[in-house]
Amino acid sequence: MAQRALIVDDEPDIRELLEITLGRMKLDTRCARNVKEAREWLAREPFDLCLTDMRLPDGTGQELVQLIQQRYPQTPVAMITAYGSLDTAINALKAGAFDFLTKPVDLARLRELVATALRLRSPAQPGDGSVDSRLLGDSPPMRLLRKQIAKLSRSQAPVYISGESGSGKELVARLIHELGPRSEQPFVPVNCGAIPSELMESEFFGHKKGSFTGAVEDKPGLFKAADGGTLFLDEVADLPLAMQVKLLRAIQEKAVRAVGGQQEVAVDVRILSATHKDLAGEVAAGRFRQDLYYRLNVIELGVPPLRERREDIALLAERSLQRLAAECGLDAAQLSDEALEKLKNYRFPGNVRELENMLERAYTLCEDDVIQASDLRLGDAPAPGSGESAGGNLTQIDDLEDFLENIERQAIMQALEETRWNRTAAAQRLGLSFRSMRYRLKKLGID
Ligand SMILES: Nc1ncnc2c1ncn2[C@@H]1O[C@H](COP(=O)(O)OP(=O)(O)OP(=O)(O)O)[C@@H](O)[C@H]1O
Ligand SMILES: [Mg+2]
Repeated sequence: MAQRALIVDDEPDIRELLEITLGRMKLDTRCARNVKEAREWLAREPFDLCLTDMRLPDGTGQELVQLIQQRYPQTPVAMITAYGSLDTAINALKAGAFDFLTKPVDLARLRELVATALRLRSPAQPGDGSVDSRLLGDSPPMRLLRKQIAKLSRSQAPVYISGESGSGKELVARLIHELGPRSEQPFVPVNCGAIPSELMESEFFGHKKGSFTGAVEDKPGLFKAADGGTLFLDEVADLPLAMQVKLLRAIQEKAVRAVGGQQEVAVDVRILSATHKDLAGEVAAGRFRQDLYYRLNVIELGVPPLRERREDIALLAERSLQRLAAECGLDAAQLSDEALEKLKNYRFPGNVRELENMLERAYTLCEDDVIQASDLRLGDAPAPGSGESAGGNLTQIDDLEDFLENIERQAIMQALEETRWNRTAAAQRLGLSFRSMRYRLKKLGID
């Protein structure tokens, strides 16, 4: 059976244009001139897609988006907005529209949008296997997060994922991509903090051969690499201001121009972004552009810190230990009751990643495959920034050199992990010269 689309617009010309284009894509179309007629069609038969104008004689497209969200959530709805009315488009996305289209309607864009909508089948079930098996945790905040992921994966709206370091932001971004209609296309993660600023433009937009020294061949760039899929801007707060302007333009125009290139090429990417920093605070401090913030943060998804879902710790630890054992082909270690109790009471400033690292270390230390509380090495060196470091615990220190070295090691390891082991970027993040970084790595025996 042909798939069916509902077109809602009061202008006959636009209705006709949409009908013809969708008809050529082998869709059955129905047309409504106003909200009332749209309601009647929706009540009569199921639709695989609805395209609605914003302003209608007897109401707004926004109203229809809301109605469809409530009564016919399996029908994706896209809003057609006047050119330049970004507010309307963003409000529609917030209300649950899966995408928007600006007038004058660009037919290539329209076809892309329709094709994406038709790839959405029935709503991904919250509790769907693939989300469950990778995003662990059955606490109320995790259940809610899973539901939100399932819902947002159907939308094309930009999502800003906030949350502490190591809490699972990248995992969440991957799941949004994999559960959505773009899953067959690439997911391209970019660590914005790790790209040297002079290479940034060419990394994002590509370059033409010979456009600068070292450009020995054409390079497509990250936007092109993510075409049809999802671009994940990780650590987005670290983008230099000059790059923020260019990025905003690319997102708005849905087109990029390679360094040394002549014309802009259209790209179709969904943008997800994340940072462990407070992005609104970065805006207030003038380090992040308000307009880009507004464009990226259409929907904010918060990933809860591990300490707010302590009931998940046991499961996460168990799975982590199983994975570690499987990697070396050995038996999984068990946590002693006391060790588990200690984990449940720990603050985990580094969240799930810290738990994983801690268990990995403990696994190599423990005897007879039982991890004791002492193997966890908790308490002897609280992580920097845990709020309980240095000052609070001074009485327990019996070797200051050791203590300081531990803090130094943790800060450096964290910076290295956050920059995917890019030593230059890690040094920059810590305010160290590269030379001093190298010295410290050597001293601490970090490879
Ligand atoms: N709910 C979860 N279930 C299972 N594994 C998880 C969960 N949350 C996070 N992880 C794991 O924890 C590690 C850190 O997750 P991730 O890289 O997504 O964090 P992040 O928030 O992006 O961290 P950062 O701010 O440092 O970039 C990964 O190995 C990830 O697979
Ligand atoms: Mg990350």
